[in-house]
Amino acid sequence: MKFFIDTANLDQIKQANELGILDGVTTNPSLMAKEGITGHDNIMKHYVDICNIVNGDVSAEVIATEYDKIIKEGEALASLHENIVVKVPMIKDGIKAIKYLSSNNIKTNCTLVFSAGQALLAAKAGATYLSPFIGRLDDISYDGVSLIEQIVYIYNTHGFETEVLAASIRHSNHIIKCAEAGADVVTCPLDPILKLLDHPLTNIGLEKFLADYKKGN
Ligand code: G3P
Repeated sequence: MKFFIDTANLDQIKQANELGILDGVTTNPSLMAKEGITGHDNIMKHYVDICNIVNGDVSAEVIATEYDKIIKEGEALASLHENIVVKVPMIKDGIKAIKYLSSNNIKTNCTLVFSAGQALLAAKAGATYLSPFIGRLDDISYDGVSLIEQIVYIYNTHGFETEVLAASIRHSNHIIKCAEAGADVVTCPLDPILKLLDHPLTNIGLEKFLADYKKGN
């Protein structure tokens, strides 16, 4: 399973990358705004900065919602760096654009996915990645992890190559549950990744090992 970090914060991307476990980055317009990255040129430069940190796929989201404009914007994003994956929303023109972009060897990430039907359409269109938002489903009392299980089952049954990229991860147990469900990728903020390190018995055990070493030295 691949680990992506879901942020536009360069410091956090560097921290995750230095752990040696990072396979890529996902961003969205909200995450860019959170870092104060505004204006076309600044946003484009920021994508290149991210690509220069991480040796892996970097999702950059289109703002356009009409087919022709999504294509134009997607091609411009893809030309920034070889690691760019064009993130396209799950709408009718988005599906058509994913079909065009994937047929022209541009990687795509179909975003804002909340149902198995949407997942089927994205896979048929040839999306490289599919981003079901599991935390936002949990927020409205649906079961986000169950959707991952359902999509993984459908893709495996029919041999679709689209990778299931579990997004909108809220905590480290989401990461474990998505791993169990067979997600190809999880994308999450730095904190849930770092929390995977924690276990009280590890801390207690390490303290004892170090104390016992000191007794004899
Ligand atoms: O990148 C998309 C997704 O991960 C958003 O997460 O926390 O805004 O629901 P969230």
